[in-house]
Amino acid sequence: MKETRGFPFFILKNGTCGNFYFTMNNTKPPDFKTQFAEEIFKGLTSYPKKISSKFFYDERGDELFQQIMELPEYYLTGKEYQILLRHREEIGDAFASMEGFDLIELGAGDGKKTKVLLRHFEEKNFDYKYLPVDISKNVLEQLSASLQQEIPAVEVEPQQGTYGEVLSRLADYRDRKKIILFLGSNIGNLTPQEAVVFLRKISSSMDEKDLFFMGVDQKKEPRVILDAYNDSAGVTEAFNKNLLVRMNRELDADFEPDTFMHWPLYNPETGVAKSYLVSTKEQTVQINSLDLEVHFQKWETIHTEVSQKYDDTSIAWLAEEAGLEITGSWTDKESCFKNYLFKRTGS
Ligand code: AVI
Repeated sequence: MKETRGFPFFILKNGTCGNFYFTMNNTKPPDFKTQFAEEIFKGLTSYPKKISSKFFYDERGDELFQQIMELPEYYLTGKEYQILLRHREEIGDAFASMEGFDLIELGAGDGKKTKVLLRHFEEKNFDYKYLPVDISKNVLEQLSASLQQEIPAVEVEPQQGTYGEVLSRLADYRDRKKIILFLGSNIGNLTPQEAVVFLRKISSSMDEKDLFFMGVDQKKEPRVILDAYNDSAGVTEAFNKNLLVRMNRELDADFEPDTFMHWPLYNPETGVAKSYLVSTKEQTVQINSLDLEVHFQKWETIHTEVSQKYDDTSIAWLAEEAGLEITGSWTDKESCFKNYLFKRTGS
């Protein structure tokens, strides 16, 4: 399959031609072995080309993201950590309830920020259970082991699965107050429209006494945002290009990462930061396991990530669309990052 003259067009290696494979081609699409294979096929035969940022996170991607969180330019993690540390008392007071609660964290990762809250809850003798949710068994095992060492008293019940699976499982559970955590501005990796759909799922899994606590990166000086996605050490560049390395390994492709540029953009009008991979030359790449040839014109792009930034007005809009109501918020001194607490509308 190929693209030519900047218009969506491809040639399958069996000679079939067409454009927009999934809408216009009436040959049977190939059988895909993995979701990665299917989405890469779709994304690289679309125009403009795109790949979802969820595929950044293979083993190497996880390592690179850990490094990103330590970078001086990537202020998000440090700012949220400071907010939780500084306001743990008030946040704890807002969470606490007589009958205790279950703390469900979507995408817990290494739990570094959450541990600030867990330590505080232990000091206060709160009656609660911690349910970290992750697709990766490995991540959950590492997190449970580190909690066992660092805060042994905390009761941990790991939940393996996608957010959607776990939320629908927990929606039926109405015994105890649920507090759902979604930290790190992960919401920003969805478009606002996708975010509304996701937040509706959250609100419909909530009972009237439940709460939702979300960390959101805020609109700010555009240069600061751009630098966060364009660090001087080149870690974010490696993170973005790791997609090409992953396709080479998992799909038997022959991308040359050095022939692509990492190109982040920030639009202060819409609050959207986007990252691209830009082909620095005209080239054709083979993706053997998809039986696909992908043509790139010089300066052609692959859109790889959205990192949406919000402010109070746009968060209030998101909340309203999703059936949520803001009941509290905490920020850092420069209002770089904000953590919002929501309940279900009408509760
Ligand atoms: C995980 N997510 C919130 C990060 C972000 O800021 O969008 C992922 C990231 N991409 C580049 N740097 C960090």
